[in-house]
Amino acid sequence: MFLEIKDIHKSFGTGESRIEVLKGLDMEIGKGEFCVLLGPSGSGKSTLLNIIGGIESADEGSISIEGEYLADMTEKKLSQYRRKHLGYIFQMYNLIPNLTVRENIEVGAYLSDHALDVDELLQILGLTDHQKKLPNQLSGGQQQRTAIGRAIVKNPDILLCDEPTGALDYNTSKEILKLIETVNLKYGNTVVMVTHNDAIKDMADRVVKLRDGMIRKNYLNEHKIPVVDLDW
Ligand SMILES: Nc1ncnc2c1ncn2[C@@H]1O[C@H](COP(=O)(O)OP(=O)(O)OP(=O)(O)O)[C@@H](O)[C@H]1O
Ligand SMILES: [Mg+2]
Repeated sequence: MFLEIKDIHKSFGTGESRIEVLKGLDMEIGKGEFCVLLGPSGSGKSTLLNIIGGIESADEGSISIEGEYLADMTEKKLSQYRRKHLGYIFQMYNLIPNLTVRENIEVGAYLSDHALDVDELLQILGLTDHQKKLPNQLSGGQQQRTAIGRAIVKNPDILLCDEPTGALDYNTSKEILKLIETVNLKYGNTVVMVTHNDAIKDMADRVVKLRDGMIRKNYLNEHKIPVVDLDW
């Protein structure tokens, strides 16, 4: 399997204040799969994403990508993995304020050996006409599209999205989800997307539900529904 997550445990704090956030997670994600991760606030969704992203390490268990274990990678290799093979999209857009839309996306391209064409991507993102603007001249949706551009321009093997529509209204959320769907289909990146919104699960190939540090559900969608047909 492309991405293998085995018996992941993670706690924070010590002594009295120690909390066990992940209590032994096992799951696998196929290459090109679109996986939606659901769960209540505090259930460890972001923690899991950060562990997959090599930003945090697990206390126990292992993560492997195409048979390669993150724990066996040197710091240098891990940093390369994060730079070249991983795209991260957050709830808040984290754009560089003094760079234009285009330049923010070019930062992502610069990190990759096999970057996508920036003009083509601007077109897909609907940002061609906004490419010379600075982030503070953009709407929330346009900022998030730029952030998606920066993550996707690397053509990452894995795209990690942590509540990418958390700060957006209904229509803009749909537009952003459609974009992530398009990117997944067009470029075949494996996507792991965290959300609170249960309705979004129907667009995924795989649905994983976390609660109290454990996986409560993990199934493949037999009939996934395109974002345009989703409603909530
Ligand atoms: N660096 C940290 N230090 C201490 N506790 C942490 C740290 N990171 C996360 N936690 C705790 O771990 C638990 C899980 O946090 P996490 O951010 O993974 O939840 P989440 O499922 O993403 O929640 P949300 O939906 O609110 O974003 C929470 O109780 C949180 O307070
Ligand atoms: Mg979170």
